[in-house]
Amino acid sequence: MSVPKIIIAIDGYASTGKSSFAKMIAAKYGFLYLDSGAIYRAVTLFALERGFISDNGEIDQNSLKEALSGLKVTFRREASTQKSETYIGERSVEKEIRQLEVSNYVSPIAVIPFVRDFVDNLLHKFGEDGAIVMDGRDIGTVVFPNAQLKIFMTADAEIRARRREKELLAKGEDVKFEDILKNVLERDYIDSHRETAPLKKADDAILLDNSYMTMEQQMEWFDAIIRERFGYES
Ligand code: DC
Repeated sequence: MSVPKIIIAIDGYASTGKSSFAKMIAAKYGFLYLDSGAIYRAVTLFALERGFISDNGEIDQNSLKEALSGLKVTFRREASTQKSETYIGERSVEKEIRQLEVSNYVSPIAVIPFVRDFVDNLLHKFGEDGAIVMDGRDIGTVVFPNAQLKIFMTADAEIRARRREKELLAKGEDVKFEDILKNVLERDYIDSHRETAPLKKADDAILLDNSYMTMEQQMEWFDAIIRERFGYES
């Protein structure tokens, strides 16, 4: 069976495992996976490296706006691992964009309307042909409001922080659980209270609370939905 030309929008709170879930769906059904948060993270790294974010967290929006037209973000599949990596120009920034410093600044960067326009334009270009699964905060509400399938993910905040801690420790980062929990809660707050494209469940999105679900259980849940709605067998 060929890959259905549908757009699947996965939105939800920070560290609910949206990207792992989306990647599994993409691999199993042959969809293209697009990580919108990675683009916001790449913009944040770019702003940090160019010195547009001062030590007290102030963002020089004029300079960022001017420089943004020269920022080229792409996704490429790494040959040895077959994993998709985020690039700025010819440089893989996959590792840097996941560090806590970037996580700490990404939400204030993502509230800036011209940054959101920049990311939305890129996503529309990437998503032109359909057959994609995309994860983020506003994919089903703003970026692709006509997506054929919308999923909204949530989980208990402490469970999410524990998952993030495990990931960062595995990468060798020196992190404290309290700092991660604080970052998760702060991002939840900023993401859901910002004026532009706040995080909220679309009326037609299906809720997935995975606090106590394994990856396998989440895939079984998804398989049932895609079978019932689209008659599609994996
Ligand atoms: O999914 P993530 O944690 O990598 O996303 C990083 C940040 O980017 C998140 O805190 C909010 C922002 N974001 C957004 O505002 N809209 C999206 N569609 C995706 C991410």
